[in-house]
Amino acid sequence: MKTDIDSLQTELKDKNPRKILRKALDSFDNIAISFSGAEDVVLIDLALNIRKDIQVFTLDTGRLHPETYQFIEKVRNHYQIDIELLTPNNEVLDKFVKNKGLFSFYQDGHQECCGIRKIEALSKKLTHLDAWITGQRKDQSLETRQNIPEVEVDTRFSSENHSLIKFNPLLNWSSAQVWDHIEAYQVPYNELHKKGYISIGCEPCTRPVLPNQHERAGRWWWESGNKKECGLHAGNLEKSKNIS
Ligand code: ADX
Ligand code: SF4
Repeated sequence: MKTDIDSLQTELKDKNPRKILRKALDSFDNIAISFSGAEDVVLIDLALNIRKDIQVFTLDTGRLHPETYQFIEKVRNHYQIDIELLTPNNEVLDKFVKNKGLFSFYQDGHQECCGIRKIEALSKKLTHLDAWITGQRKDQSLETRQNIPEVEVDTRFSSENHSLIKFNPLLNWSSAQVWDHIEAYQVPYNELHKKGYISIGCEPCTRPVLPNQHERAGRWWWESGNKKECGLHAGNLEKSKNIS
């Protein structure tokens, strides 16, 4: 099926998350929610009111906090859903760790490790989907997320024979709106949020932020530059080129 993304985007522009999710789930059977944080549980919460047979996956890098593994289990039990855990390719990971150890990212940047522990597994999964749904929000990054649309062709993970569509239903929500929904609807959340963490990734690459620090300041904090994207949303970097 060839989807006319331009007209879909025109239809969905500035619509609320429920409308965007409904359209996404009505338009695609083979669609999945990419789950890791607070935003994504809100997506699951909203999606289950639309369709019970949602697909959910998470990238288990092997370096997540114990609290994050407990959180995944909490979400699974709370909603009685399957959450597919995608793990890195063993052979590639073994070779990488043998060559460079467990903390090479502090020396030469996070891209290589993220490439092996996240992107390869994600890439493999996405070849089997027609569309995916993420919890990205514009205000997560002034540098890389200002131009994300409600729906787009995911140029990073599409191929000549396979066009992959990406939905970002929460793009216009603030963090406060996400947390308002979590509180109002008793949505499960990661215990690390009680300890000052806002944006949560892998344990060695995430730390709590200070009051008034931006939420992504706690991610890959040793790296300079503001355009911190690990590759899941590589298309954002292309779109952000025009943001000065
Ligand atoms: S990241 O690229 O910097 O790691 P971020 O943590 O802001 O991404 O999350 C944005 C969205 O990317 C999430 O709402 C989720 O849809 C997806 N995502 C991020 N990390 C993961 C993960 N480990 N597993 C699955 N999806 C993820
Ligand atoms: Fe590796 Fe850190 Fe990326 Fe996790 S966030 S995959 S530990 S570099």
